[in-house]
Amino acid sequence: MAEIRVEDLRHVYSAGTPFEKIAIENINIVIPHGQLVGIIGRTGSGKSTFIQHLNGLLKPTEGRVLCDGQDINADKHSRKAVKAKVGLVFQYPEYQLFEETVYKDIAFGPKNMKLDDAQIDIRVREAARFAGVDEELFERSPLELSGGQKRRIAIAGVIAMRPGVLVLDEPTAGLDPQGCRQLLDNILSYKTETGATVIIVSHSMEDTARLAERIIVFDHGTVAMDGAPDEVFADPDKLTQLGLSVPQATRLAMELKKQGLALEGSIYTHEQLRSAVLRAREAGLC
Ligand SMILES: Nc1ncnc2c1ncn2[C@@H]1O[C@H](COP(=O)(O)OP(=O)(O)OP(=O)(O)O)[C@@H](O)[C@H]1O
Ligand SMILES: [Mg+2]
Repeated sequence: MAEIRVEDLRHVYSAGTPFEKIAIENINIVIPHGQLVGIIGRTGSGKSTFIQHLNGLLKPTEGRVLCDGQDINADKHSRKAVKAKVGLVFQYPEYQLFEETVYKDIAFGPKNMKLDDAQIDIRVREAARFAGVDEELFERSPLELSGGQKRRIAIAGVIAMRPGVLVLDEPTAGLDPQGCRQLLDNILSYKTETGATVIIVSHSMEDTARLAERIIVFDHGTVAMDGAPDEVFADPDKLTQLGLSVPQATRLAMELKKQGLALEGSIYTHEQLRSAVLRAREAGLC
């Protein structure tokens, strides 16, 4: 577990050149221990730039990022410490697999941490379980596996370092609906079993709403909305302005409520809508 505190963060790419681009600015966010946060926002809104600051991959042009109270860019020691605490899974991480076998790929991080073989083995098996990688694949070459399997191996490689903060950039991009669901369930188990803080960037409102207890909406490099899913979805007009939309099931539920149907509970998914309608029927409300 670890707390992330971001203070007045600003990042400018290619500063002082004709290609200068202010990617994010004026970002102040505290993510407490063990929170599951969804980050959404239209393309180019600064999500990836933001999360790459959380493990020191990008350095702030201005501002600070603190992990458990320590400025992660203060010195070499802090930068090293944060790499062990904050695990970052890039968008399309499967392109970064390079070892001869799946086992070696997952073991790469723990090996670099100078753990002994027995400890590495425990970590690899544990991470494979969390990420949904079958142990039968351990001796195969990652290159001959499917895209979805490769994605899981890459995620296992990060989980094997047992990060207190797990940050994932579009982890479900390009997966089929069943693959998406399984992967999100795996990520949720990692959080539940380890108490880790989890930050997920996603284009899917449904995925984000289903998992996250807090949603942060980025727009033009700043935070436009920040709150529980219920709060964020309560303002569909603002979401539309930000280039996003309320999940379909939530929109339908809002419409039904307007027409007088007393639906209870948070509704983001079709299953939640179905259950709410059935509950209303059982209670004789429709
Ligand atoms: N290496 C770079 N050099 C210059 N500009 C960049 C670089 N990376 C990103 N940008 C610009 O910074 C802004 C924010 O980009 P970023 O990739 O953080 O957005 P994003 O919200 O992750 O978008 P997407 O949803 O498409 O992944 C964009 O205008 C982008 O073009
Ligand atoms: Mg991105």
